[in-house]
Amino acid sequence: MSTYLPEPFRIKMVEPLKMTTREERLQYIKEAKYNLFGLKSDGVYIDMLTDSGTNAMSDAQWSRMMLADESYAGARSYHRLIEVCSDIFAYDYFQPVHQGRAAEKIVYPLLLKKGQVSISNMHFDTTRGHVGLAGARPVDCVVAEARDTENFYPFKGNMDTVRLEALIEEYGVAQVGVIVMTITNNSAGGQPVSMANLKEVYAIAQKHKIPLVIDAARFAENAFFIKEREEGYGDKSIKEIVREMFSYGDAFTMSAKKDAIINMGGLIGIKNSAEFYEQVKGLTVPYEGFVSYGGLSGRDLEAMAQGLLEGIDEDFLAYYLGQSRYLGELLQKAGVPFQYPTGGHAIFLDAARILPHIPYYEFPGQSLAVALYTEGGVRGCDIGSYMLDPDPETGEQPQSEMEFTRLCIPRRVYTKSHLEYVAKVIVEVYKKSEEFGGYRIVKAPKVLRHFTAELEPVK
Ligand code: F0G
Repeated sequence: MSTYLPEPFRIKMVEPLKMTTREERLQYIKEAKYNLFGLKSDGVYIDMLTDSGTNAMSDAQWSRMMLADESYAGARSYHRLIEVCSDIFAYDYFQPVHQGRAAEKIVYPLLLKKGQVSISNMHFDTTRGHVGLAGARPVDCVVAEARDTENFYPFKGNMDTVRLEALIEEYGVAQVGVIVMTITNNSAGGQPVSMANLKEVYAIAQKHKIPLVIDAARFAENAFFIKEREEGYGDKSIKEIVREMFSYGDAFTMSAKKDAIINMGGLIGIKNSAEFYEQVKGLTVPYEGFVSYGGLSGRDLEAMAQGLLEGIDEDFLAYYLGQSRYLGELLQKAGVPFQYPTGGHAIFLDAARILPHIPYYEFPGQSLAVALYTEGGVRGCDIGSYMLDPDPETGEQPQSEMEFTRLCIPRRVYTKSHLEYVAKVIVEVYKKSEEFGGYRIVKAPKVLRHFTAELEPVK
């Protein structure tokens, strides 16, 4: 039987959605040049493009915003945020910034020199971008189990530690500027990283004196998965697990738009290096603003402090991760392939298996995303070859290891019946999948093209 844990909240404010017809959606997607990012959100019924900044805040968050202190320097709201962060993460220094990539823009140039590499279980696109902007090269090193979408493995987000050691040997210790642990591992399907893996990777990093940075966008979900799946953690609180997770890192960057359940915000955390904190402050002031607001208003800092506390609440996490699991159960019953087990923030449909007649260079993940929109007004996005920019030298289209269509679940936004509707749309599309064809790119920028590229159907 499918399980759905009832919401640990009730609804106090609603946002009406516009219903559209299939004919209207066919017109809208054509006008958007078959790019889901080009759609007006009014033409979308269920928006699963991202879980980032699309969360619903609580009454406590909204009320704290009214109490916020907007002082330029030394605001009460800043001190409250630092207090909450110290309690949750047990690090020594924290710097708020306006979002995750702002944290990356500050941290990576401080750690990476030109020609070095950054090794990660998997870099998120913006992390990959900032490693590149620092003149270094991102190298992904996820466990092989992540590529097998069919079979259960509890921690598909893990770093392949045997390969990590081999890579350090191959590049030479001096060439490895940083090791990055992305928790949960977004690009592998929102898959968790085990405590044992975090510990082992940190031991390797320390042995070679390589700094380890945690990309903490979905740290609370990762902690919940550890509690559920890893031996010895079932009786620990989420906060205890979070503290242990972060003890296996030297610093973190965080997009707070995910697990801190807010609409905008980011954080940098530093374990015990006063020197590194000084360097971080030195870049924050010119890029983001004075250290006590870091590109955010006082009300954003209050919302983040409160959201961090709500984001590690076990009842919330059980309900939220139960939503993706429930959607997965509905799809499994209908035989639709997806990255199994379901990750935290999203369901990753296996587009390569759903649309086997579309080659990677005609973008199966993108085709499936367009079909889900036109058939049911559900907006997701490609996480596959379409997302990979062509080789700058040869212009060749790289082939992604996995062709996914990602459908994210914004926190506290959609109900059980919304998810059942989404499952129905997916199953309908799956049943007539041979009707959908591939796409070609007609116009695109050179970097991060998937956001703004224009496409057309391949006849
Ligand atoms: N790291 C991870 C793992 C992310 O998923 C994201 C954003 C970032 C860093 C960058 O944070 O957007 O606040 O600048 N992920 C969003 C997504 C955009 O849709 O997965 P940001």
